[in-house]
Amino acid sequence: MIKILFLGDVVGRPGRQAVRRYLAEVLSEQNFDLVIANGENASGGLGLEPTSATELYASGVNVITSGNHIWNKKDIIDFLEQNKPRLIRPYNYPVGAPGAGVLKYKLPSRLNVCVINLIGRVFLETIADCPFRAIDKLLNEELANESLIFVDFHAEATSEKMAMGWYLDGRVSALVGTHTHVQTADERIFPKGTAYITDVGMCGPRNSVIGAEAGVVVERFLSGRPLRYEVARGEMQINGIIMSLDEESGKALSIERINSNLPL
Ligand SMILES: [Fe+2]
Ligand SMILES: [Fe+2]
Repeated sequence: MIKILFLGDVVGRPGRQAVRRYLAEVLSEQNFDLVIANGENASGGLGLEPTSATELYASGVNVITSGNHIWNKKDIIDFLEQNKPRLIRPYNYPVGAPGAGVLKYKLPSRLNVCVINLIGRVFLETIADCPFRAIDKLLNEELANESLIFVDFHAEATSEKMAMGWYLDGRVSALVGTHTHVQTADERIFPKGTAYITDVGMCGPRNSVIGAEAGVVVERFLSGRPLRYEVARGEMQINGIIMSLDEESGKALSIERINSNLPL
């Protein structure tokens, strides 16, 4: 059995600190074959600095996925090129985009877990190829002989994520949604064995609007002015998913949702 922990979008320094505290505790009690976190908001709430990626690795994260904010910090471009095995960006960005969108993570048992990052096209200002056709080709060609496949589908629309879940049922071990920072309560295993949740949520400040200082966001809506977001402080939340997979078939055996508060 393969056990995977996935953590939703880590928001800013408070989010990184919360992940460090959470992993220190949980990794002392449970063994995971693979810990994955979405890091697209890990630096200042927008983007990922190489130093923040290194900090997440040091906390126990093995692989970092991302999303539309991966390009916000320019230093990440070189890092993406140099650290392909540990950090990925959405696979369906146009050909030639820096970095990679899929990685084969080798477990100590020498089994591969393939981690794929995809980005949606509905309600997202991004230029990307069709995620359905992109992953179809990837699964049929490069990953045709792989059975343990985890997908982080970074998308806004619940329908696009759910449609992808059904499209990939039985073809990947797990498909989890990210990007909205709001956790959905629909975790399940689809009929052909794919673990699914529409959105994992975020690791960051609970008293916030998707990680940002609530007062500033409210003022933006009231005034229409593009005020600068600040990452909120205070009590932290950890949102994630724990999955177990059958190592022979790659099918999901269980999916459990994590939504916990970290005391200050
Ligand atoms: Fe995000
Ligand atoms: Fe995002």
